[in-house]
Amino acid sequence: MQIQVNYKQEIERLRKEKKAIILAHYYQTGDIQDIADFVGDSLALAQWAAKTDADVIVLCGVHFMGETAKILCPEKRVFIPDLNAGCSLADSCKANDFEKFIAAHPGHKVISYVNTSADVKALTDVVVTSSNAKQIVESFPEDQKLIFGPDKNLGNYINGITGRQMVLWNGACHVHEQFSLEKILKLKNEYPDALLLAHPECKSYILQIADHVGSTASLLKYATNTDHKQFIVATESGILHEMQKRNPGKEFIPAPPEDPTCACNECNFMRLNTMEKLYLCLRDETPEVFVDEKIRVKAVKPIQKMLEISARLGL
Ligand code: 13P
Ligand code: SF4
Repeated sequence: MQIQVNYKQEIERLRKEKKAIILAHYYQTGDIQDIADFVGDSLALAQWAAKTDADVIVLCGVHFMGETAKILCPEKRVFIPDLNAGCSLADSCKANDFEKFIAAHPGHKVISYVNTSADVKALTDVVVTSSNAKQIVESFPEDQKLIFGPDKNLGNYINGITGRQMVLWNGACHVHEQFSLEKILKLKNEYPDALLLAHPECKSYILQIADHVGSTASLLKYATNTDHKQFIVATESGILHEMQKRNPGKEFIPAPPEDPTCACNECNFMRLNTMEKLYLCLRDETPEVFVDEKIRVKAVKPIQKMLEISARLGL
């Protein structure tokens, strides 16, 4: 007879026993978000990892998030529930190719989105997330030539709002690129009072018609602080869990993808994590995230620079 495990109860027990902290991104399923010690966007997850005194970090997100935590906290053990939780955006930028791209643009400082491997971060001057990209780009003198990678949509958006002309790496996220303009416009007709909230990884034609563009944390804050009652949300649909939780009287409609046959607004990598895998990861202390020490000492500098600038700006 198969014994039924109460994952919630077991996760609670194991995290106390192992002095572990569970950090979850807003794109995780609701049950994982609800059991986490902290739920946040990419910047907040890095900030939490940097300041926690827990012995063990379980990062419920994708691999680069676990790697960022490990780079910041080499003395801690960092686990992610599924080692296959990658990221199409990070995968679109291989360190070898990025190195050649940088060499082809002498005199440029290198800004990398946090959605990159440790190897790419090691080639970078400063890391950004969608929460602080604008402010960090603006912290460079106006005449400083800049490379921005790997997300061309975020880079293009930041160029537009800052007036900079950063050279962009040609990468994108397969989840944010698939929203349908036509279907969003149709939804706006059906819900004339609804505001469109969009993540800057979306294509420019979606961002141009959005009422608010920002990181997941920024979209959540905007929806919570406004008196508006209806929202069309153009980002990974996991964020709707916290939006709905904080705003029970408001309506959140996930922006539809081009392809009606798929749940393409769910990140297949993020959704590899489940309560069962979180439980097993705590129980068996695997899979663990490791970063080569030579790479880590290079990669930690641009991440720390990001955290310092963000702290100075109160982000
Ligand atoms: P933020 O967490 O900065 O909103 O970015 C979203 C994302 O794509 C994470 O993979
Ligand atoms: Fe990467 Fe896109 Fe998934 Fe975020 S939503 S983890 S950018 S593939």
